[in-house]
Amino acid sequence: MVDSEQVLGCKAPMGLVLVLLLSSLLGPLGQVQAQDCERPIRDTMSLTEFNCGSLELVNGHVEYSEGTSFGSLATFSCNDGYILSGRNRLLCGNTEWLGRTPNCIGAVFTKDLSAKIVKCDSPPSVDKAEGPSPKRDFYDFESVVRYNCQKDYTINGSASLKCKSNGEFTPNPPTCLMVRCKAPFIPNGSQKSGARPPYIHRSLVEYECKPGFKMEGEGVMTCQLDSTWSSTPECKVLPVDPTSSPGKSCH
Ligand SMILES: *[C@@H]1O[C@H](CO)[C@@H](O)[C@H](O)[C@H]1NC(C)=O
Ligand SMILES: *[C@@H]1O[C@H](CO)[C@@H](O)[C@H](O)[C@H]1NC(C)=O
Repeated sequence: MVDSEQVLGCKAPMGLVLVLLLSSLLGPLGQVQAQDCERPIRDTMSLTEFNCGSLELVNGHVEYSEGTSFGSLATFSCNDGYILSGRNRLLCGNTEWLGRTPNCIGAVFTKDLSAKIVKCDSPPSVDKAEGPSPKRDFYDFESVVRYNCQKDYTINGSASLKCKSNGEFTPNPPTCLMVRCKAPFIPNGSQKSGARPPYIHRSLVEYECKPGFKMEGEGVMTCQLDSTWSSTPECKVLPVDPTSSPGKSCH
């Protein structure tokens, strides 16, 4: 067992400063350092060359005091809306970073600046839908749940919801609708092309007017979520053109 004083000898000259800082700031970490330093304490050359490599912190970032070599400190901080779970610093030892990399956990900050970990209650089930899936009692911040409408039903809204920092899923759960449009009735018009009944969501039909009639409105219609057609065209009688009126010429 090597004590902190001997560990200071692990890295010279900067290591001395670092470990002194550590024992005042981090307390117990100085001792972990001491144990890990036991073996290579006499081999100062290879020690100073050892590199721990960079660390990754999801939803946060890592800063290094002087690179990632032996004796360097990695300092962790989390993005807005997250709090750190674990140590906020790690020291690069002679074989690896000494200690476990922390995590950033989604959190909200109350008015008195204390942090609270975000959990969302399960969103409600939806008529004619499967979901929410996955099924849990509580969900972590930024968890996503999905809904799937049963066969023949069309989703109105978003199929996926996310647990937000206010502890609620956003957006609201969708609804599942049975969409059926009635056959269009267009006096003096007829269907030119498109879907046959039953007309479901997004069914598309095209209507045209009989000879002598002119269409007003869009002849291509789609069946909408609310079971109505996207347009209601009308066939209006064409004004009689005096220059080409048929049946007036006598022989
Ligand atoms: C046009 O439509 C009206 C109303 O449905 C109907 O009374 C009329 O006979 C139609 N005209 C033709 C030429 O189909
Ligand atoms: C679809 O959902 C929206 C938002 O909840 C709602 O306002 C709308 O009426 C719904 N549409 C139908 C056809 O139910």
